[in-house]
Amino acid sequence: MYLDNAATTFPKPEAVYEAILHVLRDVGASPGRGGYRRSLESGRILFQARETVAGFFSIADSSRVIFTQNATGALNLALQGTLAAGDHVITTSMEHNSLLRPLYALRTKGVEVSIIPAGPDGVVSVEDIRRAVQVNTKMIAVCHVSNVCGAIQPIEPLAQICREAGALFLVDAAQSAGYLPINVEQTGIDLLAVPGHKGLLGPGGTGFLYAAPHVQLKPVLQGGTGSHSTAEEQPLVMPDGFEAGTHNLPGIAGLQAGIEFLMERGLSSVHQHEQSLLLQAEQALRDIPGVTAYGPADPEGRCSVLSFTASGVDSGLLAVELDHGFDVAVRAGLHCAPLAHRTLGTMPGGTVRLSPGWSTTSEEIALFSDAVVQCIDKIRK
Ligand code: ALA
Repeated sequence: MYLDNAATTFPKPEAVYEAILHVLRDVGASPGRGGYRRSLESGRILFQARETVAGFFSIADSSRVIFTQNATGALNLALQGTLAAGDHVITTSMEHNSLLRPLYALRTKGVEVSIIPAGPDGVVSVEDIRRAVQVNTKMIAVCHVSNVCGAIQPIEPLAQICREAGALFLVDAAQSAGYLPINVEQTGIDLLAVPGHKGLLGPGGTGFLYAAPHVQLKPVLQGGTGSHSTAEEQPLVMPDGFEAGTHNLPGIAGLQAGIEFLMERGLSSVHQHEQSLLLQAEQALRDIPGVTAYGPADPEGRCSVLSFTASGVDSGLLAVELDHGFDVAVRAGLHCAPLAHRTLGTMPGGTVRLSPGWSTTSEEIALFSDAVVQCIDKIRK
């Protein structure tokens, strides 16, 4: 039973496997690297995938979608590509290391970083963020949904603060893309970092950064772009200048198929299914003596994951027992988000986190809950 969809979704819809295989077996060539028909076909596949991504996130110009390896690649590009010494960035204690570590590295180069603590439920206060704004605030950077407790951050009012302050708004959608509708233009998101392999149901090694037309982005990777070959400097042409090297076209085609699957099934129907499974799990876990669940009390305030601890039980050991005794895959520990665990009061042991997916069933969640009871009993004896 796979309940670690927050790390990467599994299984993928059948169409995703087919799209990957089609590119690998039937197309083969590299996009933008040749004038022959096979390369033109691969260029068409790349363009269609970009258009599909743009449509799904209400991005008017698909050339502002830069394919990356994952959300980490997108966040590094967003941060390193816009910030310089003297700039100030506001972020939160709920961030993943994929955002924090590039920021810590930039701090050593003169970027000022304010990390605003979220409340004990993992939700950051809009007023606390507003109070942290300085004259040199260049960016507010937040995860839309916490990968630890599923808390949904109030991105609309935060976007408004950015507009008033003339700052860029960077949203890490690692745990929200494919779970919640995201309209970058309506919300006022300047930079959106997205993994392809989580809620969008694509394969590993895919992701993208959206950069709004007014964002002046510097490339962080230099190399071949299939054009401007005599230029010594990296061309700033969007998106090619930011996608140096050969694309992961099989992966990108798989990502497109994943998004199409979500569109066919309906994002809200997939979301409602996963929300009802999380609620079922939470209700069952809360009946177990000594079990604590984390995140906002209102289920509407969270999505995608549920984290819990059991008193007197090591989270890592519980996850191992679930795997070995019941073939249940969950992720335990600190989830690459140490400050989030400090905020929730779950340091140093962390939590056990379950994250159902589109194909998880209610019967599986019932089996999972029974397995948790048995594992806790075994460990406590
Ligand atoms: N960021 C992913 C997770 O939370 C890998 O599991």
